[in-house]
Amino acid sequence: MEFFVDTADVDMIKKLNDMGLVDGVTTNPTLIMKAGKGHKETIQKISSIVKGPISVETLSTDAEGMVKEALEYVTWGKNIVVKIVMTPEGMKAVKILSKKGIKTNVTVTFSPLQALIAAKAGATYVSPFVGRLDDVGHFGMDTVAQIKEIYENYGYQTKILAASLRHPTHVLEAALMGVDVATIPPDVMLKLFNHPLTDAGIKSFLDDSKKWKK
Ligand code: E4P
Repeated sequence: MEFFVDTADVDMIKKLNDMGLVDGVTTNPTLIMKAGKGHKETIQKISSIVKGPISVETLSTDAEGMVKEALEYVTWGKNIVVKIVMTPEGMKAVKILSKKGIKTNVTVTFSPLQALIAAKAGATYVSPFVGRLDDVGHFGMDTVAQIKEIYENYGYQTKILAASLRHPTHVLEAALMGVDVATIPPDVMLKLFNHPLTDAGIKSFLDDSKKWKK
């Protein structure tokens, strides 16, 4: 299972990358805003740290504009994946970009049928937003399971990128389901280390080491 980190915070990406936790990065306009620097500058910095795929979101609403943005984004780094929203124009753009060999990530996806459409258009990744579905009373992970079943039924190569994850249990469920990638916010990624028995075990070993005979 690949871990992408869901942030544009360059210092945090470096910290998590040093721990071996970062197979890739996902950004979106909100995350770029929170990082507080220019879009291109931020993506180029991330690209100098992380070798894996970095998702960069287009802002146009028409396919032509999305493709134009995509062609610029791929000059910003080695492994840029172009994020395209789940709309008819978006899928037109995905089809064009996929023919050009440019990787895409279909975003703001909330249903298995949207994910089916993304696969048919030739998307590299599809990002179901699990937490946002939970927020409105759906079981976000059920959507992910249905997408997985549909993709397996027909052998689609589009990778499922579980997104909008809010807590470690989302990551656990995605892993148990065999999802290809989880994009995880930094605070959730750091929580994956935590277990009270680990803390207690380390403490008791250190305490005992102080009682060794000299
Ligand atoms: C990642 O690709 C998505 O943009 C992100 O996971 C959305 O997360 P949010 O629902 O916490 O904003």
